[in-house]
Amino acid sequence: MILIDGKKAAAELRNELKKEVAELKKIHNKVPGLTVILIGELAPSKIYVKNKEKSAVEVGLKSDVIRYPETVEEKTILEKIDELNKDESVSGILVQLPLPKHIDKQKVIEAISPGKDVDGFHPMNVGNLSSGYESSVPCTPLGCYLLIKKIEPNLSGKKAVVVGRSNLNGKPMTQLLLKENCTVTITHSKTADLKGECLKGDIVVAAVGIPELVKGDWVKKDAVVIDVGINKTEKGIVGDVAFEEVSKVAKALTPVPGGVGPMTIACLLKNTIECFKRSQKK
Ligand code: GUN
Repeated sequence: MILIDGKKAAAELRNELKKEVAELKKIHNKVPGLTVILIGELAPSKIYVKNKEKSAVEVGLKSDVIRYPETVEEKTILEKIDELNKDESVSGILVQLPLPKHIDKQKVIEAISPGKDVDGFHPMNVGNLSSGYESSVPCTPLGCYLLIKKIEPNLSGKKAVVVGRSNLNGKPMTQLLLKENCTVTITHSKTADLKGECLKGDIVVAAVGIPELVKGDWVKKDAVVIDVGINKTEKGIVGDVAFEEVSKVAKALTPVPGGVGPMTIACLLKNTIECFKRSQKK
Protein backbone atom coordinates (compact mmCIF):
# COMPACT_ATOMS: atom_id res chain seq x y z
CA MET A 1 0.00 0.00 0.00
CA ILE A 2 1.21 3.48 -0.84
CA LEU A 3 0.91 5.84 2.10
CA ILE A 4 0.28 9.17 0.42
CA ASP A 5 2.61 11.65 2.09
CA GLY A 6 0.78 14.98 2.03
CA LYS A 7 3.51 16.73 3.98
CA LYS A 8 6.10 15.80 1.37
CA ALA A 9 3.80 16.65 -1.56
CA ALA A 10 2.98 20.02 0.02
CA ALA A 11 6.69 20.79 0.59
CA GLU A 12 7.38 19.95 -3.08
CA LEU A 13 4.53 22.18 -4.21
CA ARG A 14 5.72 25.06 -1.99
CA ASN A 15 9.17 24.66 -3.47
CA GLU A 16 7.77 24.98 -7.02
CA LEU A 17 5.68 27.97 -5.97
CA LYS A 18 8.69 29.64 -4.39
CA LYS A 19 10.52 29.44 -7.72
CA GLU A 20 7.47 30.76 -9.53
CA VAL A 21 7.15 33.73 -7.17
CA ALA A 22 10.84 34.57 -7.74
CA GLU A 23 10.22 34.50 -11.53
CA LEU A 24 7.12 36.66 -11.21
CA LYS A 25 9.06 39.15 -9.12
CA LYS A 26 11.62 39.44 -11.91
CA ILE A 27 8.95 40.01 -14.55
CA HIS A 28 6.57 42.30 -12.67
CA ASN A 29 8.81 43.79 -10.02
CA LYS A 30 6.27 42.81 -7.36
CA VAL A 31 5.03 39.67 -5.63
CA PRO A 32 1.51 38.28 -5.15
CA GLY A 33 -0.12 39.33 -1.87
CA LEU A 34 -2.49 37.33 0.33
CA THR A 35 -4.65 39.04 2.94
CA VAL A 36 -6.48 36.94 5.52
CA ILE A 37 -9.28 38.32 7.68
CA LEU A 38 -9.60 36.55 11.02
CA ILE A 39 -12.57 37.28 13.27
CA GLY A 40 -12.69 36.13 16.90
CA GLU A 41 -10.57 33.77 18.93
CA LEU A 42 -11.45 30.23 17.79
CA ALA A 43 -8.37 28.10 18.42
CA PRO A 44 -8.49 26.00 15.20
CA SER A 45 -8.96 29.16 13.10
CA LYS A 46 -6.02 30.85 14.82
CA ILE A 47 -3.81 27.81 14.16
CA TYR A 48 -4.85 27.63 10.49
CA VAL A 49 -4.18 31.32 9.98
CA LYS A 50 -0.79 31.14 11.64
CA ASN A 51 0.18 28.22 9.37
CA LYS A 52 -1.10 30.08 6.32
CA GLU A 53 0.97 33.13 7.20
CA LYS A 54 4.11 31.06 7.76
CA SER A 55 3.73 29.20 4.46
CA ALA A 56 2.96 32.38 2.51
CA VAL A 57 6.12 34.05 3.78
CA GLU A 58 8.13 30.88 3.05
CA VAL A 59 7.26 30.97 -0.66
CA GLY A 60 7.87 34.72 -0.85
CA LEU A 61 4.35 36.08 -0.96
CA LYS A 62 3.37 39.33 0.69
CA SER A 63 1.22 38.19 3.59
CA ASP A 64 -1.14 40.15 5.83
CA VAL A 65 -3.54 39.11 8.55
CA ILE A 66 -6.23 41.54 9.69
CA ARG A 67 -7.73 40.56 13.03
CA TYR A 68 -11.08 41.64 14.46
CA PRO A 69 -12.81 40.87 17.75
CA GLU A 70 -15.77 38.44 17.79
CA THR A 71 -18.13 41.43 18.21
CA VAL A 72 -17.08 43.26 15.03
CA GLU A 73 -19.99 44.52 12.92
CA GLU A 74 -20.70 42.96 9.54
CA LYS A 75 -20.52 46.41 7.96
CA THR A 76 -16.90 46.85 9.10
CA ILE A 77 -15.93 43.58 7.41
CA LEU A 78 -17.75 44.44 4.19
CA GLU A 79 -16.06 47.85 4.08
CA LYS A 80 -12.64 46.27 4.64
CA ILE A 81 -13.27 43.76 1.84
CA ASP A 82 -14.25 46.63 -0.45
CA GLU A 83 -10.98 48.39 0.39
CA LEU A 84 -8.95 45.21 -0.24
CA ASN A 85 -10.79 44.62 -3.55
CA LYS A 86 -9.47 47.99 -4.73
CA ASP A 87 -5.94 47.51 -3.36
CA GLU A 88 -3.62 46.49 -6.20
CA SER A 89 -1.06 44.99 -3.81
CA VAL A 90 -3.65 42.44 -2.67
CA SER A 91 -3.97 39.48 -5.09
CA GLY A 92 -6.02 37.22 -2.84
CA ILE A 93 -8.48 37.72 0.02
CA LEU A 94 -9.50 34.98 2.44
CA VAL A 95 -12.01 35.42 5.24
CA GLN A 96 -11.41 32.60 7.72
CA LEU A 97 -14.53 30.54 8.43
CA PRO A 98 -16.54 29.91 10.53
CA LEU A 99 -17.84 33.43 11.17
CA PRO A 100 -19.69 34.65 14.27
CA LYS A 101 -23.48 34.11 13.98
CA HIS A 102 -24.33 37.80 13.50
CA ILE A 103 -22.29 37.96 10.30
CA ASP A 104 -23.89 36.70 7.08
CA LYS A 105 -21.39 34.28 5.53
CA GLN A 106 -22.89 34.45 2.05
CA LYS A 107 -22.83 38.27 2.04
CA VAL A 108 -19.16 38.21 3.01
CA ILE A 109 -18.27 35.62 0.36
CA GLU A 110 -20.10 37.57 -2.33
CA ALA A 111 -18.40 40.83 -1.31
CA ILE A 112 -14.98 39.46 -2.30
CA SER A 113 -14.07 40.27 -5.87
CA PRO A 114 -14.24 36.92 -7.78
CA GLY A 115 -10.75 37.60 -9.15
CA LYS A 116 -9.37 37.76 -5.58
CA ASP A 117 -11.42 34.88 -4.20
CA VAL A 118 -8.60 32.46 -3.31
CA ASP A 119 -11.09 30.10 -1.62
CA GLY A 120 -13.14 29.69 -4.80
CA PHE A 121 -16.32 30.15 -2.75
CA HIS A 122 -17.81 33.07 -4.74
CA PRO A 123 -20.84 31.96 -6.81
CA MET A 124 -19.08 33.18 -9.95
CA ASN A 125 -16.13 30.85 -9.30
CA VAL A 126 -18.46 28.01 -8.33
CA GLY A 127 -20.34 28.51 -11.62
CA ASN A 128 -17.18 28.81 -13.68
CA LEU A 129 -15.77 25.61 -12.18
CA SER A 130 -18.96 23.68 -12.92
CA SER A 131 -19.02 25.06 -16.49
CA GLY A 132 -15.39 24.05 -17.00
CA TYR A 133 -14.18 27.67 -17.31
CA GLU A 134 -11.15 29.22 -15.65
CA SER A 135 -11.82 29.77 -11.94
CA SER A 136 -10.38 29.62 -8.46
CA VAL A 137 -10.86 26.11 -7.09
CA PRO A 138 -11.46 25.52 -3.35
CA CYS A 139 -8.14 24.62 -1.74
CA THR A 140 -8.99 21.31 -0.05
CA PRO A 141 -10.47 19.54 -3.10
CA LEU A 142 -7.68 21.00 -5.24
CA GLY A 143 -5.17 19.44 -2.81
CA CYS A 144 -7.00 16.10 -2.98
CA TYR A 145 -7.02 16.27 -6.77
CA LEU A 146 -3.25 16.86 -6.94
CA LEU A 147 -2.62 13.91 -4.59
CA ILE A 148 -4.89 11.63 -6.66
CA LYS A 149 -3.10 12.66 -9.87
CA LYS A 150 0.24 11.69 -8.35
CA ILE A 151 -1.03 8.12 -7.96
CA GLU A 152 -3.29 7.95 -11.04
CA PRO A 153 -2.09 10.37 -13.73
CA ASN A 154 -4.77 9.11 -16.13
CA LEU A 155 -8.19 9.21 -14.50
CA SER A 156 -10.21 8.91 -17.70
CA GLY A 157 -13.00 6.35 -17.35
CA LYS A 158 -12.30 5.65 -13.68
CA LYS A 159 -15.19 5.37 -11.27
CA ALA A 160 -14.92 7.94 -8.49
CA VAL A 161 -17.11 8.03 -5.41
CA VAL A 162 -17.25 11.23 -3.38
CA VAL A 163 -18.72 10.83 0.10
CA GLY A 164 -20.01 14.24 1.23
CA ARG A 165 -21.79 17.01 -0.68
CA SER A 166 -20.52 20.20 0.95
CA ASN A 167 -19.81 23.36 -1.00
CA LEU A 168 -16.30 23.35 0.49
CA ASN A 169 -15.32 19.82 -0.50
CA GLY A 170 -17.74 17.32 -2.00
CA LYS A 171 -19.27 19.43 -4.76
CA PRO A 172 -16.05 21.02 -6.09
CA MET A 173 -14.27 17.64 -5.78
CA THR A 174 -16.94 16.17 -8.04
CA GLN A 175 -16.36 18.89 -10.64
CA LEU A 176 -12.60 18.31 -10.68
CA LEU A 177 -13.02 14.56 -11.15
CA LEU A 178 -15.64 15.06 -13.89
CA LYS A 179 -13.21 17.32 -15.74
CA GLU A 180 -10.76 14.39 -15.72
CA ASN A 181 -13.41 12.18 -17.36
CA CYS A 182 -14.15 10.16 -14.24
CA THR A 183 -17.62 8.74 -13.78
CA VAL A 184 -18.50 10.37 -10.49
CA THR A 185 -21.05 9.32 -7.91
CA ILE A 186 -21.72 11.90 -5.22
CA THR A 187 -22.97 10.31 -2.01
CA HIS A 188 -23.71 11.52 1.51
CA SER A 189 -24.89 10.47 4.94
CA LYS A 190 -28.44 9.78 3.64
CA THR A 191 -27.38 7.69 0.64
CA ALA A 192 -29.05 4.27 0.55
CA ASP A 193 -26.43 1.49 0.58
CA LEU A 194 -23.48 3.82 1.01
CA LYS A 195 -21.22 0.79 1.42
CA GLY A 196 -22.35 -0.62 -1.93
CA GLU A 197 -21.72 2.74 -3.64
CA CYS A 198 -18.24 3.09 -2.12
CA LEU A 199 -17.35 -0.45 -3.25
CA LYS A 200 -17.76 0.64 -6.89
CA GLY A 201 -15.08 3.34 -6.61
CA ASP A 202 -11.63 3.14 -8.19
CA ILE A 203 -11.21 6.45 -6.36
CA VAL A 204 -12.95 7.18 -3.05
CA VAL A 205 -12.86 10.65 -1.49
CA ALA A 206 -14.34 10.78 2.01
CA ALA A 207 -15.36 14.28 3.12
CA VAL A 208 -18.43 13.75 5.23
CA GLY A 209 -17.27 14.47 8.80
CA ILE A 210 -18.19 11.09 10.31
CA PRO A 211 -15.29 9.42 12.20
CA GLU A 212 -14.01 6.24 10.50
CA LEU A 213 -17.19 5.81 8.45
CA VAL A 214 -15.52 4.15 5.45
CA LYS A 215 -14.58 0.62 6.56
CA GLY A 216 -12.21 -1.95 5.06
CA ASP A 217 -15.06 -3.92 3.45
CA TRP A 218 -16.45 -0.70 1.86
CA VAL A 219 -13.44 -0.33 -0.41
CA LYS A 220 -12.62 -2.15 -3.64
CA LYS A 221 -9.21 -3.82 -3.81
CA ASP A 222 -6.56 -1.42 -5.11
CA ALA A 223 -8.76 1.68 -4.86
CA VAL A 224 -7.15 5.08 -4.20
CA VAL A 225 -8.66 6.46 -1.00
CA ILE A 226 -8.44 10.10 0.06
CA ASP A 227 -9.50 11.01 3.60
CA VAL A 228 -10.53 14.65 4.08
CA GLY A 229 -12.00 14.11 7.56
CA ILE A 230 -10.60 15.71 10.70
CA ASN A 231 -12.70 14.41 13.61
CA LYS A 232 -11.96 14.87 17.28
CA THR A 233 -12.70 11.63 19.15
CA GLU A 234 -11.78 10.06 22.49
CA LYS A 235 -8.82 8.37 20.83
CA GLY A 236 -7.61 11.62 19.26
CA ILE A 237 -7.96 13.03 15.75
CA VAL A 238 -9.26 10.52 13.20
CA GLY A 239 -10.39 10.82 9.60
CA ASP A 240 -13.58 9.67 7.84
CA VAL A 241 -11.79 6.44 6.87
CA ALA A 242 -11.00 3.49 9.18
CA PHE A 243 -7.29 3.73 8.43
CA GLU A 244 -6.02 0.32 9.61
CA GLU A 245 -8.73 -1.71 7.84
CA VAL A 246 -8.68 0.29 4.62
CA SER A 247 -4.88 0.25 4.43
CA LYS A 248 -5.10 -3.55 3.95
CA VAL A 249 -7.30 -3.18 0.85
CA ALA A 250 -6.44 0.12 -0.82
CA LYS A 251 -3.68 0.71 -3.35
CA ALA A 252 -3.01 4.13 -1.82
CA LEU A 253 -4.39 6.01 1.18
CA THR A 254 -3.87 9.39 2.86
CA PRO A 255 -3.15 9.43 6.60
CA VAL A 256 -4.85 11.82 9.05
CA PRO A 257 -3.04 13.99 9.97
CA GLY A 258 -0.34 14.45 7.33
CA GLY A 259 -2.44 13.72 4.24
CA VAL A 260 -4.81 16.26 2.76
CA GLY A 261 -4.28 18.93 5.46
CA PRO A 262 -0.82 20.17 4.43
CA MET A 263 -1.90 20.29 0.76
CA THR A 264 -4.80 22.63 1.54
CA ILE A 265 -2.52 25.47 2.63
CA ALA A 266 -0.08 24.88 -0.23
CA CYS A 267 -3.04 25.12 -2.63
CA LEU A 268 -4.09 28.40 -1.06
CA LEU A 269 -0.68 29.80 -1.98
CA LYS A 270 -1.08 28.34 -5.48
CA ASN A 271 -4.48 30.03 -5.82
CA THR A 272 -3.02 33.36 -4.68
CA ILE A 273 -0.36 33.13 -7.38
CA GLU A 274 -2.97 32.17 -10.01
CA CYS A 275 -5.11 35.19 -9.02
CA PHE A 276 -2.03 37.42 -9.34
CA LYS A 277 -1.19 36.03 -12.79
CA ARG A 278 -4.76 36.50 -14.04
CA SER A 279 -4.80 40.08 -12.73
CA GLN A 280 -1.54 40.85 -14.55
CA LYS A 281 -2.94 39.54 -17.84
CA LYS A 282 -5.81 42.04 -17.73
N1 GUN B 1 -11.96 27.30 7.63
C1 GUN B 1 -11.60 25.99 7.52
N2 GUN B 1 -11.21 25.73 6.25
C2 GUN B 1 -11.34 26.88 5.56
C3 GUN B 1 -11.06 27.24 4.20
O1 GUN B 1 -10.66 26.44 3.36
N3 GUN B 1 -11.30 28.54 3.87
C4 GUN B 1 -11.78 29.45 4.77
N4 GUN B 1 -11.98 30.70 4.35
N5 GUN B 1 -12.04 29.14 6.04
C5 GUN B 1 -11.81 27.87 6.42
